Amino acid sequence: MQLRVRSVAIEKASADLLIVPVWKGLKQQPEFQELNELWDGGLLNWLNQIGFEGNKRETAIVPSFGKLGVAQVLLLGLGDRKRIVADDLRLIGGAAYKKAKELHAKHVALLSEPFLQSFSPKESASTVMEGWYGATYAFHAYHEEAKQKESDRAVQELLWIAHGSTNAKAIEKGADEAKLLSQGVHVTRDLVNTIAHEMTPKELVKIAQEIADSSSRLSITVLDQKEMEKKKMGAALAVARGAVNKPYTVHLVYKPKKKAKKRIAIVGKGVTFDTGGLSLKPSDGMVTMKMDMAGAAAVLGLFKVLPSLDLDIEVHGIFIAVENAISAEAYRPGDVVTAMDGTTIDIQNTDAEGRVVLADALLYAREQEPHALVDLATLTGACIVALGEEIAGVMGTDARLIERLKKASVQSGEDIWELPLPDKYADHVKSRIANIKNVGAKGQAGAIAGGLFLKRFAGDTPWAHLDIAGPAFTDREMRPDQSYGGTGFGVKLLVRYLQGL
Ligand code: BES
Ligand code: ZN
Ligand code: MG
Repeated sequence: MQLRVRSVAIEKASADLLIVPVWKGLKQQPEFQELNELWDGGLLNWLNQIGFEGNKRETAIVPSFGKLGVAQVLLLGLGDRKRIVADDLRLIGGAAYKKAKELHAKHVALLSEPFLQSFSPKESASTVMEGWYGATYAFHAYHEEAKQKESDRAVQELLWIAHGSTNAKAIEKGADEAKLLSQGVHVTRDLVNTIAHEMTPKELVKIAQEIADSSSRLSITVLDQKEMEKKKMGAALAVARGAVNKPYTVHLVYKPKKKAKKRIAIVGKGVTFDTGGLSLKPSDGMVTMKMDMAGAAAVLGLFKVLPSLDLDIEVHGIFIAVENAISAEAYRPGDVVTAMDGTTIDIQNTDAEGRVVLADALLYAREQEPHALVDLATLTGACIVALGEEIAGVMGTDARLIERLKKASVQSGEDIWELPLPDKYADHVKSRIANIKNVGAKGQAGAIAGGLFLKRFAGDTPWAHLDIAGPAFTDREMRPDQSYGGTGFGVKLLVRYLQGL
């Protein structure tokens, strides 16, 4: 898709579809008045008749009948001018693409003046285009017809109408940034959407290697099962034991050109399929469990774009890829397993495998002596109960780190909400036979128990845990920039966090 930024008059713009964002109470808006005059006032009359007011997410399609150089005009409601927030721009960008596709428009023009009044040109462009690129994503690896239809309908050109050449430069820069970030997000979405039979631990290693090979700033270390045994990663290895697909530890490093001002470790949960193990999941709960490596996929999405961001931070991306399968060799409820540092873990439920794997992953990450440690994990159904499908939980030991993640989350539009890790709940993960147990108190604070468990392995390294069980995967199209499957949650948030350091 080609993006051009031009300063042209509305009636001169040539395209299949002209998109005009309009505020609620459209009459005062100069661009709207201009359009209305071309119709001799008929546009407003008609919109009044169909009850279009310019509310958020409201749309109206108007044929131009030769009044303009475009066949149709799409009015996109922005709602109240005083209440617009950055994420609304993503929704507009997403809706613009989806509508254009629906209308078979190949050449689309977008009038940007309205949002340039509330946001800087660069922010307008990067945020709108994040939504746009998000909406262009489609995963049809198993559906050839749909794939064909999708590519037939793809929009070929977007003409962004804005006045002034300094604006144009900033808009181009913003759009480029969005394009780059979206490449990372799309990597993550692809990895999550690929079935677990194909996206095995070994395949994740292969993809990590390809990413590492693509830039001289990146390097990679991979540990196979033997090397993990040597390192005494008994917790992760126990989870892996029931599977035919063998486990791997992946460690990516980004080193900046200049001397790094900080070293950050990002750890992802990489369970390529979660049957629950012998504590078997019910069928309904198992269907989407190819998504249980979404944390690791976010790490890979981040590393896809890291070399282009040119940050002066050393970044370590770490995940242990395992499959939580079931066989005669599978680890059992009631087993005690031993993590890399000798901590013994009482396995009360083999379906709480994420934290058991992460125990070794966090311990491994701490060997790199990072200034901060962040993990992303599809860890608990309880977090979805607490915060719903669209908000991730954040917990940790360092208030400043959590503040930084919250700030990044506002910028990226990926919502997170803090849950406490109270000392008085420490006994929820207390075992009668080992150092710690892998489930919390029955029927309460399940997401927090996950956090309290991990806290032990994070030690005194400043650490934050993102429970992304809800927002990593969606089975409804909740917003136009997402579709059924992986959402890529975390990639943009991590980028904004690292940029903010
Ligand atoms: N992968 C699941 C968590 C999950 C559930 C992610 C639903 C996405 C959607 C995790 O491994 C798990 O099964 N956790 C258990 C923990 C419990 C046994 C303490 C859960 O949430 O039920
Ligand atoms: Zn599980
Ligand atoms: Mg979900």
